This record gives sequence, C-alpha cells and structure tokens, in this order.
Amino acid sequence: MKNIEIAVIPGDGIGKEVVPFGVKALELAAEIHGGLSFKMQEFPWSCEYYVEHGRMMPENGIDILKNFEAIFLGAVGLPKTVPDHVSLWGLLIAIRREMKQYINLRPVKQMRGVRSPLADPKGFDILVVRENAEGEYSPIGGRMIAGNDEIVVQNAVFTRSGTERAIRFAFEAAGKRDRKFVTSATKSNGIIHSMPFWDEVFGQVGREFPEIQQTSTHIDALSAFFVTKPQTLDVVVASNLFGDILTDLGAGIMGSIGIAPSANINPDRKYPSMFEPVHGSAPDIYGKGIANPVGQMWTAKMMLDFFGFEDVGQLLLDSIEDTMEAGIITPDLGGKASTTEVGEAILTKFKERGRR
Ligand code: NAD
Ligand code: IPM
Ligand code: MN
Repeated sequence: MKNIEIAVIPGDGIGKEVVPFGVKALELAAEIHGGLSFKMQEFPWSCEYYVEHGRMMPENGIDILKNFEAIFLGAVGLPKTVPDHVSLWGLLIAIRREMKQYINLRPVKQMRGVRSPLADPKGFDILVVRENAEGEYSPIGGRMIAGNDEIVVQNAVFTRSGTERAIRFAFEAAGKRDRKFVTSATKSNGIIHSMPFWDEVFGQVGREFPEIQQTSTHIDALSAFFVTKPQTLDVVVASNLFGDILTDLGAGIMGSIGIAPSANINPDRKYPSMFEPVHGSAPDIYGKGIANPVGQMWTAKMMLDFFGFEDVGQLLLDSIEDTMEAGIITPDLGGKASTTEVGEAILTKFKERGRR
C-alpha cells in the first residue's frame, strides 16, 4: 500500500470551487486502485488569509509544506483585494522557488468532446516543458526615479545549470513519446541577450540526444504555428515567460482555459511537487457555480501519473472525455452545466470505468 501525504491549498476565487472535485477524484482513484491511499491536509492560505494575517501563508509555511510529498493547489490571486505581485510572490512563486519546482509540465491536447476553435485541429498533442524557476521571472530589479523620469528594471536571469536541466528534461520527455521531436522556443533574432545563450545550451544538450529530432523556432512564429499547424509539434521547451504565454494559447486552442492542467515538478524529488491547473482564480465568474472543474481534475491525473499510477490516471482522463463527449460541459465550452454537474458526472463515469 502506497500512502501519499498531500497538502491541499484551494487558494482564491474559483480555486475554492474546483479543488473539491480534484480532491474527490484523487480519493476515488485511491479506492479504484486499491493499493493507494492519500492523507490530505487542507490549508486556507489565500488572499483572505492575507487580509487577516498580513501574509499569504505563515512564516514557516514552506517548512510545513516540506513535510508533504505533493501540493494540490487551486489558484492564487484576488487583485481587487491584494495586489497580484504581493499574493503571487507571497505564495505561488514562493512555493515554486523554495521547492525547486524547476519544471512546469503543461499538456496541450485535442480532447474528445471539446470543440477546438481551430477549423481543422487534426488531433494535436503537444507537451510544453516550461522552465519554472528563473528566466524572466526574476526578483532582481525595481522601480526608481532617474532625473525627471521614472524607470522600472527587471533582470532576466538564465543560469547555465538552470537552462540545461530544463532543456535536458524536455529531451528526456520526448524520448518517451512517439514522435521524439523537440522544438525550442527562442527569440535569438531579437536583441534579447538571454536567447542566443539559450540556443547555445539547446544545441549542446541536443547533441546528447541524436535520436531526437530537434529545432528552434522564434517565439513569435511559434505562436502562429500553435494556431495554424499544432499537429507538427511534439515537445516544446520554453523559458518561464514564453512558456507561460504559450500555454494559455495552448489552452485556447484546446477550447478553454478552464480545461488545461499543469504540474510544477521537482524532478529530484527532494521537495514536494505542486499540481495546479493553468488557469487563475477567475474573479469574473467566481461564486456563480459555473467554473469548469476539468482543469483541476485533469491536474489530479497528472499527480497520479507523477506517482506512477498512470493506469488509474488514464481512467480518470477517459472519464473526463466521456463526460464532455456526452455534452455535460460548462458555459466556457458552450454548455449549460454547472461546476457540480460536470464534476459529479466525471466522478460517476470514473466509478463506472473503475468497476470494469
Ligand atoms: P484567469 O485564468 O483567472 O481567467 C481568464 C479567463 O478565463 C476569465 O474570463 C475566466 O473566467 C476564464 N476561466 C479561467 N478558468 C476558468 C474555468 N475553470 N472555468 C471557466 N472559465 C475559466 O486569469 P486572469 O483573469 O488573468 O487572472 C485572475 C487572477 O488569477 C489574477 O489574480 C491572476 O494573477 C491569478 N492567476 C493565478 C494563477 C495561478 O494561481 N496559477 C494563474 C493565472 C492567473
Ligand atoms: C501561471 C500563472 C502564473 C505564472 C502567474 C499567476 C504568476 O499565470 O501559472 O501560468 O505566470 O506563472
Ligand atoms: Mn499563466
């Protein structure tokens, strides 16, 4: 029997509405598998917590989380209550950094039962490997007065070790896939100092993987290819900011931001990895009961995969697709169902598939 201890942080906004269905999916996965159990503990860390305590999590929050094997998170941010740079640096980004979650895995896949906005999606299946610990997301810089002007500076930071490990992870991931093809998102034609360096590291690491087809594409053109010919892509490796933007574009071609999953991985497994959907707290729909729970539930599947329970994870993903194919979908996908109706329908299918 494998027991996994998970810290659950619903966070803000619709995070609180969709996390319960992710949790139920995990509990059901354990029941179906039989040799797996979860011990979950929930933490109220969020913008509301900030209003009460003046911080997003307790001072020893990171130490508390280190006692768990994984973190299951909804979303962070309520910009009308707490400025985003405060809430995000205080919780989400703090966890990614302190837990050395330097890889962010984000699948972009045409799903059964979802109408992609692309005219001819032809079954695209991309895995974006996003560098998750450095790059453009750097704390170095600030706002200052210069003469009569005001300037803001932020230094992007790319270390050789940080760049290498992200790119190497992408090649290894491609080695486990059918098409074995890595595309590096770059911008070395621009005047961005970091990207010729990124290309150089991509070339060096790439030589260790002669069996993997490899190419570099400028991020601007690559964005267009996500829309015009996503079927030609397999694994895409990108810096932190490029990967962030590409994966919301990816969610868009899948059909909705509400269905895209993500995993912040510490591949060394020295620290807990964190599983959260790509989307945020969606304050515009929070409280209406219409948030799509699919992103959070697919994220639960990524957690199952990470711990080696791919079989039951696949049953969960199949159940998600069955439900969408049956037309039980939330308004973001053009349907009329509520969060609860979709979540419960997926759990029912999952139970059925688990019995077979
Ligand atoms: P968002 O992803 O929250 O919302 C973008 C749009 O997508 C909105 O119209 C929203 O209604 C819709 N949407 C998102 N998730 C949905 C779902 N599950 N079902 C149906 N519709 C969904 O992005 P935003 O509006 O730019 O940001 C809102 C807040 O969330 C900000 O504070 C932002 O910083 C934060 N945020 C947090 C994370 C995270 O915690 N990982 C990610 C992105 C944004
Ligand atoms: C994401 C989010 C975060 C990011 C924000 C909220 C800091 O957009 O997880 O994609 O940019 O990494
Ligand atoms: Mn994002």
